[in-house]
Amino acid sequence: MSPVGKRPDGERMWTIVLAAGSGQRFGAMKQFETIGSRRLVDWSMDIAHSASDGVVLVVPAEMVGAEGAASGVVNGVVNGVVNGVVPDAVVAGGATRSESVRRGLAAVPAEATIICVHDAARPFATYEDYRLVIDAVHGGADGAVPGLTPADTIKLVEEDGVVVSTLPRSALRAVATPQAFRASVLRAAHTGSAEGTDDASLVEANGGRVIVVEGSAMNRKITTPEDMAWARAMQAREI
Ligand code: CTP
Ligand code: MG
Repeated sequence: MSPVGKRPDGERMWTIVLAAGSGQRFGAMKQFETIGSRRLVDWSMDIAHSASDGVVLVVPAEMVGAEGAASGVVNGVVNGVVNGVVPDAVVAGGATRSESVRRGLAAVPAEATIICVHDAARPFATYEDYRLVIDAVHGGADGAVPGLTPADTIKLVEEDGVVVSTLPRSALRAVATPQAFRASVLRAAHTGSAEGTDDASLVEANGGRVIVVEGSAMNRKITTPEDMAWARAMQAREI
């Protein structure tokens, strides 16, 4: 399987790996915890690297020096040391996820024609997850996201918990990352200071056409200690 990044169609693929959260619900910066011998951020960087021409890693400000030095990046410039996976830039994140994306975007060079955004907290995203969203954008979508039909019945409720309606399950998708975008569309969506729990929602709000492709159950986001226990059990089972 040839890396997506080296595709012959002229697209230049860059990925922003988001690892600047504080992990309130987990109780620690989960992205630096290990699954097997590697940290969540290493799992995520590895696959992002195989799918991209370049990778920008976004970490908490106090980690920029350590992550840069560990990966051979000094002051945002790769110094040639290859230590497994080498980000092309390491930048400090912001107070919100959307702000961290904007800081990452600022480090993505103008040559990028498609930009993916991936949560480091999803260590089991695959090359196929990247391929599907990238292909959809190459095919003409403004954005593409992996999605799964929820197993549960989902209800719309008012703040006091009173049910407004039961949503049709077949029309619902729980979406994940990596999310891929036409570079100009993602940059336009982040021109201001818009906030959202993902990037597709900002592109949608701008009138962009976003496609949902088939996601995978393994690409679960690590949010709580229970999620981490699941991820470690999954990884142990693979050995
Ligand atoms: N993230 C980020 N910058 C932020 C907030 C989140 O880069 N200011 C990243 C996280 O590191 C994570 C991804 O965005 O990889 C998804 O966010 P989430 O799972 O919510 O992680 P946290 O914000 O760290 O967790 P919590 O919401 O429980 O505090
Ligand atoms: Mg969060």
